[in-house]
Amino acid sequence: MAAHTNADRAISAMSQLSARFFNYVQGAEFYRDLHQQAVSLLPPGSGSLWFDVGCGPGLVTRLAAEHGYQATGFDMDPTMIVQAKKNSSDELSISHYEVISIDELQTLGGKANVVSAASLLFVLNDKERALHQLLSCLVDGGILLVIETTDLMKPRNAWAWLLQNGFGNRNWILLLWAWTRANGRSVTPTDMNISDHRIERTDLLEGLVSAWLLSKC
Ligand SMILES: C[S@@+](CC[C@H](N)C(=O)[O-])C[C@H]1O[C@@H](n2cnc3c(N)ncnc32)[C@H](O)[C@@H]1O
Repeated sequence: MAAHTNADRAISAMSQLSARFFNYVQGAEFYRDLHQQAVSLLPPGSGSLWFDVGCGPGLVTRLAAEHGYQATGFDMDPTMIVQAKKNSSDELSISHYEVISIDELQTLGGKANVVSAASLLFVLNDKERALHQLLSCLVDGGILLVIETTDLMKPRNAWAWLLQNGFGNRNWILLLWAWTRANGRSVTPTDMNISDHRIERTDLLEGLVSAWLLSKC
């Protein structure tokens, strides 16, 4: 029983650490800029709905709200949602947050004009299933925005970018991001190739990251 309690405490501490870490990352200048550029690939919202899945501390959700959407961030980790709510409380644009896993999206009942997933596919094993789950939350004519690092996200390329653009304003985090990607498999154009959907790819951060827009043909 005591061991179970200790395990729970350890998981909770890891979760808190992870939320703080992602919050720190989301405050890096390059990180905010590239996500801002990705969000501005979509037309201004004028009150239409945006779901941000795997929102972490809520950067893309807040940017979507600033872009005129009624934005809701979803994450399976309750500590991420607590952090996201804290972050949004200082903002003028209102955004909402809910603890929910990608597997439970169907239970929402509602659909959105835009669904986004930033750095979510990388952490999920079955990327095709995840893409179908995300697409199933779109209204007819809706758009899915996926933001993921590319094969170019390597420590040497991150270093070159930092030498050119500066390490300040938390930009050094880019190097850490590249290290975390060193042993994983990047999301590829083949992953994004879903039948009956048109794909538009925009390179960000000199090609280290791509924003993908998917919509039904
Ligand atoms: C790498 S972080 C990215 C956070 C944020 N989107 C960003 O770009 O900074 C991945 C996030 O996805 C969440 N996540 C992982 N698996 C998930 C799942 N199955 N359903 C919902 N969220 C998930 C994690 O809790 C974490 O907050």
